[in-house]
Amino acid sequence: MCRRPPGARVELCVMASERWSPDSWRGKPIQQAPVYPDAAALADVEKTLAGFPPLVFAGEARKLKRALGRVAAGEAFLLQGGDCAESFGEHSADNIRDFFRVFLQMAVVLTFAGASPVVKVGRIAGQFAKPRTNPTEKIDGLELPIYRGDIVNDTEFTPKGRTPDPQRQLEAYRQSAATLNLLRAFAWGGYANLDNTHRWMLGFVKDSPQSGRYQELADRITQTLGFMRAIGLDPEEHEQLSRTDFYTSHEALLLGYEQAMTRVDSTTGDHYATSGHMIWIGDRTRQFDHAHVEYCRGVKNPLGLKCGPSLKPDDLLRLIDALNPDNEAGRLTLIARFGADKVGDMLPALTRAVKREGRAVVWSCDPMHGNTVTANGYKTRPFDRIMSEIRGFFEVHAAEGTHAGGVHLEMTGKNVTECVGGAREITAGELSDRYHTYCDPRLNAEQAIEVAFLLAEQLKAERDQTKRAAAE
Ligand code: PEP
Ligand code: CO
Repeated sequence: MCRRPPGARVELCVMASERWSPDSWRGKPIQQAPVYPDAAALADVEKTLAGFPPLVFAGEARKLKRALGRVAAGEAFLLQGGDCAESFGEHSADNIRDFFRVFLQMAVVLTFAGASPVVKVGRIAGQFAKPRTNPTEKIDGLELPIYRGDIVNDTEFTPKGRTPDPQRQLEAYRQSAATLNLLRAFAWGGYANLDNTHRWMLGFVKDSPQSGRYQELADRITQTLGFMRAIGLDPEEHEQLSRTDFYTSHEALLLGYEQAMTRVDSTTGDHYATSGHMIWIGDRTRQFDHAHVEYCRGVKNPLGLKCGPSLKPDDLLRLIDALNPDNEAGRLTLIARFGADKVGDMLPALTRAVKREGRAVVWSCDPMHGNTVTANGYKTRPFDRIMSEIRGFFEVHAAEGTHAGGVHLEMTGKNVTECVGGAREITAGELSDRYHTYCDPRLNAEQAIEVAFLLAEQLKAERDQTKRAAAE
């Protein structure tokens, strides 16, 4: 029997009637798949991974889904961010700590400004596989496979480095487990308490060239914490103030790895991807009848779907039918990534279609992937364009009466020079100073917190508008 929600496309019935299994994606056309020279070695690694403990638990994924359900209902905000690509070489406690600190500061600013919970999801502990425009790269007449992320091959331009090596999947698993372990300790062990986060945030405001602009909000947070302490709410002693829920996410691109990490949840009998709490489908692999959509439709985790300029409203509705046939709030996050110059023209058709069909989704804004330019020989993203896409995204939702539910950022806790602009006005000439990314340019620590402060102004405006509408 087809459980087709009202208005759902007929293809859904066809798809829903096709039996799903963790390996049913293997019978579909696939994009972006690496070519492994040794199929037996790959199968061995996948078998080994299938015997390893899960990295995350089904109950945690369900908790995240409930939290995202509140975002879909307009009662919370999603902050998702991290590296474009994690790398084996940069795996260190310092990097994880610095990222986590920046992320928490952003979350505090956004929680206060929106007066609503912030759902925290890192692009971390599994974000290793990258989709690429070309399958190969040619240098001085030598053509080799393109670098597809550390889980697949090496950046080093040699035949050995670029040949996909399945052993790397075991290292990705090991590293994800270690990262997750540290994140859990940070989130639950007291390090994330509100006093610490507040102190780091004040340090940022003091040092920022834009300190005047951020001071007022920072002062209000200080006063609120002072008041809470005065009435006996001590961050050291209250769990809500000393602990936080932090979730992991990555693009579900390398499907052999994802399949190997798929487990049946013993309490519900459902399948979950246990490689991370949330997984998403990239803009290049979202073909309705292809492998990535097939894999993702069958696992019960919260899913993301990147929505770029080529996505038509009807195609989006078909994808929603396939990925969220029961119209469960929190199951699906649509991550809009159009570019500052396109978001105002292209997003409304999608939000209208989704609203018209009554689909419960989270709308999130990725202001990074549509705003990449080249300057001085480096791939970069101008801070102003990033902010301009975020503002455009908020404007569309305000005009359409839908909830601007979140942001999806590429960022790091380090003081890199990869995106131009921001309060310190990083110039194209300075990009070479500390350009460390393995893939796309990331916001550095200061730029990321600045985004949060500027976003706070948007959230406050959205809140004021809601209040006004309620009063009318
Ligand atoms: C990414 O998020 O790193 C990415 C490749 O994005 P997209 O699929 O939107 O291009
Ligand atoms: Co990227």
